[in-house]
This record gives sequence, C-alpha cells and structure tokens, in this order.
Amino acid sequence: MAKQVKTIGVLTSGGDAPGMNAAIRAVVRTAIQKGLGVKGIMRGYAGLLQEEIIDMNSRSVSDIIHRGGTILYTARCMEFVTAEGQEKGAEICRKHGIDGLVVIGGDGSFRGAGKLAALGINTIGVPGTIDLDIACTDYSIGFDTAVNTAMEAIDKVRDTSTSHERCSIIEVMGRNAGYIALWCGIANGAEDILLPERYDGDEQQLINRIIDNRKRGKKHNIIINAEGIGHSTSMARRIEAATGVETRATILGYMQRGGMPTCKDRVYASIMGAKAAELLYEGRSNRIVAYKNGEYVDFDIQEALQMKKDIPEDQFEISKMLSR
Ligand code: ADP
Ligand code: F6P
Repeated sequence: MAKQVKTIGVLTSGGDAPGMNAAIRAVVRTAIQKGLGVKGIMRGYAGLLQEEIIDMNSRSVSDIIHRGGTILYTARCMEFVTAEGQEKGAEICRKHGIDGLVVIGGDGSFRGAGKLAALGINTIGVPGTIDLDIACTDYSIGFDTAVNTAMEAIDKVRDTSTSHERCSIIEVMGRNAGYIALWCGIANGAEDILLPERYDGDEQQLINRIIDNRKRGKKHNIIINAEGIGHSTSMARRIEAATGVETRATILGYMQRGGMPTCKDRVYASIMGAKAAELLYEGRSNRIVAYKNGEYVDFDIQEALQMKKDIPEDQFEISKMLSR
C-alpha cells in the first residue's frame, strides 16, 4: 500500500564512486521541490546507527556536482547486517521523522535497504559502484569515470612499456567482476585481458602469446588483469622468467575510485537521484532505480538481487580478435 512520505533521508554506502555527489544533489533538490523535508545520513548505515543525521536544504548540495567522493562520507557496517542493527536503524529513522530513504550503493547496500523497507521505512536504492556488477542495471554511478581514469593511466604505462620493449601487467579494480578490465582492455588495445568470469588460469597460453607477439614484431605487451584474479606481481615474475621479456606489474588501485566525475556519470547520477526522490514522493518503496536497455526503470529490490549478469560474450570475443 502506497504511503505518503514527508521527510526523506539520503545516505551513501559501500565503496564510494565518482558521481555520488551528483546523485545526492538530485535527491535533495527533487525532494525539496516536491515539498519534502530532507536529512542527510553521514557514513552510511554506520552513521545511521550512530544517529549522525543532518538537515539538508538546496544550498547543502551547492558546488558538489563536479566533485569526486561523497559529501556524506561512506562506510561499511557489520552491525547493520544483523536483525537487531536493522531494527535499531528503522527505529532511529522513525525517531528523526525519516519515513523515506534513498540508499546510494551496491548490492550489499541494497540488501540493507530491502531490510529497512520490510521494517516500514520506504526505501529506494540507486546503483553506485565503479564495478558495474549490479545485475539489474546496465549502468552504475562511477563506472564511466573509473574506466576513463584507468584508461588514461594505462596509456601512460603503455608509453614507457613501448620505450623499454617490456611486458606490462596492469591490474584494475572491479572486485569479482571484469567489466573495468574488459572496457580498459578494449579501449587501451591490450594484448590480453584476464577476466575473473573467463580466465582459466592457463598462464602457459599467456606466455606463448607473448613470445609469439614478439616474433610478430610487437614492441610491448599489455595485459589487463582484473582485481578478481589478482597476483599481478608474482604473475609478472613468472612471465619474465618464462619469456625472457622484462615484465612489470602496475596496480592502479584507488585512483580509479576518485576524481572529477565524467559528464556521463554526472548526468546519469542526476537522473537516477531525481527518479529515486520521485518514487518516494509517489509513496513507492523497496525499489532500485536502474538503467536497462536504454531506459531508466525500477525493480523490486529482492527481484533485482536475484538477477544474474555476465560479461557479454561477443564483446569478449571482439576484444580478443582486435588484440592480434
Ligand atoms: P556495496 O553496497 O558496494 O555492495 P558492501 O557489500 O560493503 O558494499 O555493503 C555495504 C554495507 O551494506 C555493509 O557494510 C552493510 O552495512 C550493508 N549490508 C551488506 N549486506 C547486508 C545484508 N545482507 N543485510 C543488511 N545490510 C547489509
Ligand atoms: O566496490 C568498489 C571497490 O573499489 C572494488 O573494486 C574493490 O574490490 C573494493 O571496492 C575495495 O574496497 P575497499 O575500499 O574496502 O578497499
């Protein structure tokens, strides 16, 4: 049954992602224009349980659309995974008059959001993660900035790899998903892309290809390795020993999570944030805003969490074909 909300809260949870600020701004301004009160909850569910709650108005979100990170800070919180933590969280929302909540984060954060919705707090999720690993959506806030940041960094490593005629293993983030690796692999013209979804651990094949590439006149050899496979440094040592080609590992790390969001991340995050606030205004709950097949849509949280997604096989095949 739709419940009209009067005051909404907004929080960011899990790993931060560039564009989260644009989403916060859109939630706050949309809600205010609909006549709702808005409170910011600092440090995700951890801040909720600590009652780190601030009043927000249109000016609270001035001058943030272009900033990386999240002005609300973010955290991971084990207490909130427990039933007692969730009940305490719902109780604190009620105490502060928060009857609707926007949770910007990934799958873990949405599990928490679903629990709050079941406890009577109208809750809407907005996908925010650089990993692009949320099954119900083709887009998540931060992915575009992360792949652009990684792509530029890999171009730089490529220059020095060419000068020294080296092999480079470059490790990108993505947790257990290979989307950042696949996109950088294609965008940077990598010789090999190692995806957790596809890599069978056959290092000998990798070694054979490096030797073959040398024979075919390639001056460098760029291997994009996904974090979900990891072990880039030891892999580099083994490859150098087996091929005789100097090999270096570079782990890009947290630079991929920061920086000014791209135009795409600002625009998509703004639209998703606005849609989340609109859903709350309409009395909806337990939904995730998503971008699917070219449209903004929303899904039931539990149904969305059951969905599966995989690296598109054709894209992976094309990436291999283009690297030869
Ligand atoms: P992400 O949201 O990016 O997937 P995490 O998996 O770290 O990041 O989840 C963020 C937070 O969401 C966790 O620290 C925890 O507070 C909350 N959370 C995760 N899983 C659950 C769960 N099953 N039930 C309730 N809350 C959860
Ligand atoms: O989910 C985003 C992400 O950067 C992943 O790519 C990575 O596995 C993880 O977060 C790192 O988390 P933490 O910030 O806890 O080190």
